[in-house]
Amino acid sequence: MRLQKFLAEAGVASRRKAEELIVMGKVQVNGKVITELGTKVEPQKDIVFYENKKVQLKNFIYIMLHKPEGYVTTVKDQFQRPTVMDLLNISERVYPVGRLDYDTSGLLLLTNDGDLTYHLTHPKHNIEKTYEAKLFGIPSEADIARFQRGIVIDGKKTQPAKLEILQKDKKYATVHIVIHEGRNRQVRKMCDAIQHPVLKLKRIATGTLFLKDLPKGSYRYLTQKEIDYLKKQ
Ligand code: URA
Repeated sequence: MRLQKFLAEAGVASRRKAEELIVMGKVQVNGKVITELGTKVEPQKDIVFYENKKVQLKNFIYIMLHKPEGYVTTVKDQFQRPTVMDLLNISERVYPVGRLDYDTSGLLLLTNDGDLTYHLTHPKHNIEKTYEAKLFGIPSEADIARFQRGIVIDGKKTQPAKLEILQKDKKYATVHIVIHEGRNRQVRKMCDAIQHPVLKLKRIATGTLFLKDLPKGSYRYLTQKEIDYLKKQ
């Protein structure tokens, strides 16, 4: 691998900036200052230093977890409740991308790629999230239109959202809800606002990544295609 690519992938700087650092004589390989741009390194073998710090490629991992109800989305809970970390059997330290409530189940992404987490949870870039919910009562066409216009919760209007009724009986409706932000208890608050409170809530997709038949409490690693898709968002 070319030295500038290695530095960029290790998060030292962009590839262009890394080239400048090399030319400036700030990078050492196996104890020698290297200023030539074409230099190749073997990431597992060669020892690279930048400003007296060892540079290493990170082993990023990306996980999709089917979170059950009754788990908190934090690394440690102050009330000693089970956390989503208890469901993972891995040695890397990963962090949840956004949050699902204690009583919500469904798709939760976890990674140690801080850059991706930052972009996916940034209010400006928010990727659409799809939920399946059981609601008390049957939303009307007017309620659906309110979702489309956005609903004021906590004094601020949400972005347009979708509400689609999948099934209904006398008392309850099963619906799909699509939102773009990740505000605190957003789906529950939006449904409270139309007076059809949520009885059960499950996130079934983040963008085009679907939970599908991943069993509750289980997790899997994302495929390279799925990782590339998330990075493009
Ligand atoms: N909206 C909610 O109300 N709860 C969640 O867990 C996720 C979205």
